[in-house]
Amino acid sequence: MKYNKKSVADADLSEKKVLLRCDFNVPMENGKITDDTRITASLPTIKYILDNNAALVLCSHLGRPKGEVKPELSLKPVAERLSEYLGIEVKMSDDVVGEHASSLASSLAPGQVMLLENLRFRKEEEANDTEFSKKLASYADIFVSDAFGTVHRAHASTVGVAAYLPAYCGFLIDAELKALTKALHNPRRPMVAVLGGAKIADKLGVINNLLDKVDSLLIGLAMSNTFVKALGGSIGNSLVDDSKLTYALEMIEKATRNNVRLVLPDDVQITAAFSPDSPPEPCDAFRVPEDMMALDIGEKTIKSFTDIIKHAGTVFWNGPVGVFEFPAYSAGTRAVAQAMAETEAYTVIGGGDSVAAVHQYGLQDKIDHNATGGGATLEFIEGKELPGISCLLDK
Ligand code: 3PG
Repeated sequence: MKYNKKSVADADLSEKKVLLRCDFNVPMENGKITDDTRITASLPTIKYILDNNAALVLCSHLGRPKGEVKPELSLKPVAERLSEYLGIEVKMSDDVVGEHASSLASSLAPGQVMLLENLRFRKEEEANDTEFSKKLASYADIFVSDAFGTVHRAHASTVGVAAYLPAYCGFLIDAELKALTKALHNPRRPMVAVLGGAKIADKLGVINNLLDKVDSLLIGLAMSNTFVKALGGSIGNSLVDDSKLTYALEMIEKATRNNVRLVLPDDVQITAAFSPDSPPEPCDAFRVPEDMMALDIGEKTIKSFTDIIKHAGTVFWNGPVGVFEFPAYSAGTRAVAQAMAETEAYTVIGGGDSVAAVHQYGLQDKIDHNATGGGATLEFIEGKELPGISCLLDK
């Protein structure tokens, strides 16, 4: 899908009230935000709206409370963090669309900002309920969506409200779409994709679609186990998706037909138990003994993956290539991150754990684009329609 949507810069904001949907679904531990990337990524749009003499009603979900009020999933810590970044009070509403939200919204003056409580405390949000959408829309004159991480969900705050207000995209969605379009629809060649992570089933459409676009597809652990087993290799106790063996063979055939170099690990680091303390030993990727499991790619594979990344024109990466959370099995993921940081290629990292890995190694500023949405990015790459973008005004 290609999108050409009106951005907040096309809207007349002065003296207006703006409902801005952000993705403040940030990781938290004991009520503390552990990574505020999604908050900082929203600041350009928030500041632009406030600087243009508008009043701002912010909204977001946090976690999956499934229509129940769960105090540990309150957005209050987000309001506090935003107040610090903006240097003004972000008024926190006690409810989503109740009396407190309504009274705060009606008294909001240009330059002031409030945040509604977690949208998913109300079941109407995920049901894309009409009355709930109208109530959200009643707080504002204009709707701006900047929740890139949630545009694959057709919820009241991502799609429903757009039926009742002029709907624009924010700068984050604009930037995410430009970066993904540049990488996937108009790539500098050779184009390389690196896929890893545990679940092949979640990435079936992604593999299929990427095989129509890339010159090389590098498959890391644990996904590679399914391919190795399908080809008759021994993978021992390694994680595998036995229901996808035929699919893996079909993808290998498709790669041959499309002249895509599909690169599986040659060697891996194996161990006896899924534990950070279980010591690694090198092994042929196709000959893992029965009682052992592969937790990282090996040295030869690191060399071939990083060489291909080094000579690429564009690299897209989704999913760590080993169990990078265990230091003894992080070498492969670290080497891919380092190669992404050093290559001259245009580099995009597609959300989730790979973005977390790059942050862990402090390399995020050396990547051209770190996507803020894992699921949304994958659906974009699969070529699926993103309902939270389709509903916005066309240019
Ligand atoms: C995400 O973290 O991927 C987005 O915020 C969407 O969250 P969800 O998968 O719970 O809809």
